[in-house]
Amino acid sequence: MAILEVKKLGSEVLRSKAQKVPKVTKRIVKLTKDMLETMYATDGVGLAAPQIGENLRVIVVDPGDGPLALINPEIIQAQGSEVDVEGCLSLPGVLGYVERFSDLIVEYLDERGKPQRIEASGLLARILQHEIDHLDGILFIDKASGISGLAELQAKLGLAEDQQ
Ligand code: CO
Repeated sequence: MAILEVKKLGSEVLRSKAQKVPKVTKRIVKLTKDMLETMYATDGVGLAAPQIGENLRVIVVDPGDGPLALINPEIIQAQGSEVDVEGCLSLPGVLGYVERFSDLIVEYLDERGKPQRIEASGLLARILQHEIDHLDGILFIDKASGISGLAELQAKLGLAEDQQ
């Protein structure tokens, strides 16, 4: 396993639409393991493949009760709404309040390529929506209100104020 570099705001891959995984190969399984290791090493609760520079529809999450890797995740049902604070490993120091669905059903492939379905609510539902957004090039700051720390991060990364 390996700890990978997490891409930061301004990185083009974070704004790209990720490709569907055609087949769950050994390489994909290794990718999920490396992503989990990277997520734990950086104290994250979720990570999407574009964040480590892989333009693939793969995410890993752990809301606190164990790791889960989802390949080609798709939200097939969503309801309710909840506002809470979010951050992102690609935007260190930035926080904002995001309205998300409170309850979801997500379909995905597991590491064996088997179709799975998960019902999620609360924190897990929030993490899944945040990570699935990454696969479509969407960052939480696109949807957040009351954002703090963004100007500081842009200055630190040498980005222009409108570079997101
Ligand atoms: Co994120």
